[in-house]
Amino acid sequence: MEKETFISKKSIEEMLSLSGPGARDLREKAARVRDECVGRKVYFRGLIEFSNICSNDCFYCGIRSSNSKTERYTMTPGEIMECVRFCDESGYGSVVLQSGERRDGEFTGFVTETVSAIKSEFPEMRITLSVGEQDRETLRRFYQAGAERYLLRIETSNSSHYRKLHPEKMVFENRRNCLETLRRIGFQVGTGVMIASPYQEIADLAGDLLFMKAIDIDMVGMGPYLPQKDNTLKDWSYDPQEALRLSLNMIAVLRIMMPDINIAATSALQVLDENGREKAIASGANIVMPNVTPLKYRQAYSLYDNRPCVLDTPYGCYNCITQRIEGTGLLPAKGEKGDSLRFLKRKGKRIDVCNC
Ligand code: 5AD
Ligand code: FES
Repeated sequence: MEKETFISKKSIEEMLSLSGPGARDLREKAARVRDECVGRKVYFRGLIEFSNICSNDCFYCGIRSSNSKTERYTMTPGEIMECVRFCDESGYGSVVLQSGERRDGEFTGFVTETVSAIKSEFPEMRITLSVGEQDRETLRRFYQAGAERYLLRIETSNSSHYRKLHPEKMVFENRRNCLETLRRIGFQVGTGVMIASPYQEIADLAGDLLFMKAIDIDMVGMGPYLPQKDNTLKDWSYDPQEALRLSLNMIAVLRIMMPDINIAATSALQVLDENGREKAIASGANIVMPNVTPLKYRQAYSLYDNRPCVLDTPYGCYNCITQRIEGTGLLPAKGEKGDSLRFLKRKGKRIDVCNC
C-alpha cells in the first residue's frame, strides 16, 4: 500500500517536467495509488452555472466584469431546482452551484435561500458552493443553510504571479485566508490552480502542489489555462500540448502526494484533447463534473474559448460521460456522495476503503 511520503520541491519539479515514457510511468503509478487508496470509482457532481454576473475582473476570464460582450444571466430558483431534480434522478451524489463572484446582500441571500430550498426538497443531496471569496458570516450562513462543500480556486500560490493575473483590488492573502475560514467553519474544502497560465514557471506549479499539501486540502479541481478571445491576456503565446502534458503530470503528482483526496478531471482538459478527461482519470483523477446547466445559458458562461458541451443537453452529458468513464475501466459511482476520504478521516469517521 502506498504511504504518503514527503516529496521535495526539486523532486516535484523533476516529476512535472517528465514527458514520453517517464510521464507515462508517473501517471500509471498515480492511477495505481488512486485505485489502492480511494478505489476504482469515479464520482459525479452536477455542475449548475447559475449566474455569470461577476464583480471581479480577472485578466484571463471571459465572464470578468469589464467584458461587455458577455450577455449576463441569473437562473431562477425554479430553474435551479429543475437542475437539482435532474441530478437526483441521475444518481449524481452532489451538485455544484457555481457563479461569478458577488458579495452584495441580494446575491448572498439568494445563495443561502437556494441552498435551504435544495436541502428541504433533497436532504440527501450534497451541496458544493463555488461562489468566490466571501466574509466569515456569509460563509457561516451558507454552511448553516446546508452547503457542506466549498470550492475556491487559488489560481496560483505565488502571490507575485497572482498579482500579474488579477487587478490590484484582488489580493492573494484574502483568498488564502478565505480557505482557512472555510476549513474552520467545517466545510469540505476544495481549491485549484490554472496550469500553463501566463507568466507561470515550473517552480510555481511545484509550489502550488506543496501549498495544497500544506493546507491539507480535501478536494482539488485544476485545469489548463485556456485563451479567451476578449481577455487582456489573449496574445500570450500558448502551447496546447504542453498545457495538456503539464496538467496530467500535475494530477498525477498530486495523487501521489495526497492519495486520499478527491481530484477532478476538469472539462477544460477536453478542450485540449477530445479524451482529456479520460486521460486525467488514467492519471489519478476520481471526480467528474457533468454540466447540468440548461442549454440556453451554457454559451454565456464563456470562461474560455471552445468550451465543451455548450450544445449538449444535461441528459446528453450524462450519457456521454458515463460511457467515457466505462471506457476507462472504472466504475461510474452513481448514487454515491463520494465525500473526500481525507475529510472523513480528519473528522474521525470510520473508513472502510482507505488503507493509506
Ligand atoms: N482558462 C482556464 N480556466 C479559466 N477559468 C477562468 N478563466 C479561465 C481560462 N481562461 C477558471 C478559473 C476560475 C474558474 C471558474 O474557471 O480557474 O476559478
Ligand atoms: Fe457533455 Fe460529453 S460530457 S457532451
